[in-house]
Amino acid sequence: MTPCLATSRSHLFGSLIALLFTTIFFPLAGIFAQKATPPTNAPYRNPKLSAEKRATDLLRRMTLEEKAIMLSGSGWMESAPIPRLGIPAINMTDGPMGVRSWLGSSAITSAANAVVKIEASSFPSGIAMAATWDTDLVQREGQAIAQEVKALGRDMILGPTVNINRQPLWGRNFEGYGEDPFLSGRLAVAYIHGVQGEGVIPSVKHFAANNEEYERHRIDAIIDERTLHEIYLPAFKAAVQEGGAWNVMSAYNKVNGVHCAESRPLLHDILQNEFGFKGFVVSDWGSTYSTAPTANAGMDLEMPGGEAMQKWLTLPLTQQSGNGAGWLTADKVLAAVKAGQITEATLDDNVSRILRVIFLSGIFDRPHTGGSEVDTPAQQTVARQGATEGIVLLKNDGGLLPLDTSKIHSIAVIGPNAAVARTGGGGSSLVSPKYSIAPLDGIRERAGSSVQVNYAAGVEMEGENPAGDIADSRAKLLKEATDAATKADVAVIVVGRYSGLEAEGFDVKTMDLPAGQDDLIEAVEKANPRAVVVLNTGNPVTMTRWIAQTPALLDMWYGGQETGHALASILFGDENPSGKLPASFPKRFEDSPAYGRYPGNDLKADYAEGIYVGYRYFDSKSVEPQFPFGFGLSYTTFAYSGLKVTPSKTSGDQLVEVSMIVRNTGSRSGAEVVELYVHDGHSKIDRPAHELKGFKRVDLKPGESQMVQFTLDRAAFSYWYPATHAWTADPGKFEIQIGASSRDIRLRAPLMLAR
Ligand code: BGC
Repeated sequence: MTPCLATSRSHLFGSLIALLFTTIFFPLAGIFAQKATPPTNAPYRNPKLSAEKRATDLLRRMTLEEKAIMLSGSGWMESAPIPRLGIPAINMTDGPMGVRSWLGSSAITSAANAVVKIEASSFPSGIAMAATWDTDLVQREGQAIAQEVKALGRDMILGPTVNINRQPLWGRNFEGYGEDPFLSGRLAVAYIHGVQGEGVIPSVKHFAANNEEYERHRIDAIIDERTLHEIYLPAFKAAVQEGGAWNVMSAYNKVNGVHCAESRPLLHDILQNEFGFKGFVVSDWGSTYSTAPTANAGMDLEMPGGEAMQKWLTLPLTQQSGNGAGWLTADKVLAAVKAGQITEATLDDNVSRILRVIFLSGIFDRPHTGGSEVDTPAQQTVARQGATEGIVLLKNDGGLLPLDTSKIHSIAVIGPNAAVARTGGGGSSLVSPKYSIAPLDGIRERAGSSVQVNYAAGVEMEGENPAGDIADSRAKLLKEATDAATKADVAVIVVGRYSGLEAEGFDVKTMDLPAGQDDLIEAVEKANPRAVVVLNTGNPVTMTRWIAQTPALLDMWYGGQETGHALASILFGDENPSGKLPASFPKRFEDSPAYGRYPGNDLKADYAEGIYVGYRYFDSKSVEPQFPFGFGLSYTTFAYSGLKVTPSKTSGDQLVEVSMIVRNTGSRSGAEVVELYVHDGHSKIDRPAHELKGFKRVDLKPGESQMVQFTLDRAAFSYWYPATHAWTADPGKFEIQIGASSRDIRLRAPLMLAR
């Protein structure tokens, strides 16, 4: 008995000890072990190992709490750091046209009384960069921006914007790369290469179908799968597959009934599975509405976070406009994990995506401490080249341009956008530059002392000075403008919008120019028919009242800080215009394909025009635009010849080589953008008249010619076939078209796709 008792006593004692160990010492020991700082030779600290290995090692050292912390930001523009493990915060900044203040919402940081001003180079808007069709330049722009990101001690730039211009009233059309998915994709890839090459994280936004600002948090884009795949997703796909993008930002809107930040079909099925995205998804600021569905969908980092988010969330406007935030806070994520609504495997996936990028970008090993120079001469050069190459010459009757200073002795520079540099549209993309060159400054500087330059505003910019914009002062301003025009050899009328009329957060009210500007153009042209109209907007405008009698027309978009220099160099012929439209310009809003469906009914935007967006609509349905996609004139002329397609019959698995010769037949050096379209006249389902599948920008001296080559793969002939939920190309005869715009096809050759 005794032994037994003894046994039982010692057993009891042993059990007690075991209980103490299991309930107190082991967990404590576990916590202490987990909470200790890992050794300096821990594999994740080793820069020689792959990002994948490092992320795996780091992840297994993290507590559940630490993982949960990483799913929401710690501030307005910062992700959550985990100091114990040396995980840095990712310090973000907007984007995409340069670095802007990260110290709060754009409403706060753009306010005239903003406490801290962050100044950096203001690059041309996305639409202007798209008009260059210059992928090398866009890559250099991305690189220059990334260098400024680092110089200011940040890690991530919230751009590029690659949403498609579906209709001409979207307030943010100026931010993106236009209406064509192929062009947008090529430029997105270039921008990403520029940014990531510097170890800075880009954010490809806004995934997906963010094409109007009207009720942007509540609007539901109803889109069929073919349209999504052919129009609204390809730029993201290219960004992921060819750009290797480290980050994608989910959009505010819903797509087919579900908010993008919790859309498993978009994030998990398409972005991760179909495209193979390995980076992390960040929510647009204030666009989350649930915990488990959001994390499970593949949305990895909610922004903003921390106190900044809490405060912002209590503001009436934040709530009214339909923002959602504070759903992926650590407590909510932990509760969802404990309730079995989020598995640990899912949480691990969310976290390891963020970790992977922290390693890939190098910010774990080499934090960006800032303190170096921004707006360097090299960066200014890129900004200027972008602004210059982006200017599109839309009309030049009688060769009014370039201005010849041996014949012109006076210029009247007129318009509400003449004396002020309208560098960009409004909202989170508007950069505060250290300096900016207004059109008038640029023209004065270039014209020199032999040409007299007079200025008249002609009309107030709508909304800028409502109190002073009354009938009497309007008449006075108009008279000053016509007087100036009468006395001058040439009038340059700079019209357009500004960041208060064309911006994030609301759509443009009308395609018409702001109040009084059409009247101004008409009156000035009557006073002096030698008039050059210059457009300074992101969107197309209605021109029907004056276009017929306007001899010369330029579109300078929002050209960033160097906009005035760029304009002057084109006006005086120091540079030859080479920009081409990245979006069709309809004659009237009523002509645009989404007309009647925008902004939608009952918060549903029905994309029933389907794939017929931009030139796919105008060219297929024979609706004449004011100016077609891809159009832009030059001071010289180019001849196209010698189209060759090899092989002319293909199984589709081999690459098709296309070549042609472009020759500068004029007397000035210049660049020509050659466009390649594919026409499919035999497919099982309806296809657009043609689609852009290649482009090349070529610099040519007078008389010089160059062979231009394109390579086409099967994707160039394919469409998304809903019946099989896959890309498909139907065997038969295609036509390869080479054009100077979508409506100026100069060379054609057949191509047989064999079964
Ligand atoms: C915009 C994003 C921007 C973010 C952060 C949002 O309102 O839609 O494009 O990056 O704010 O400023």
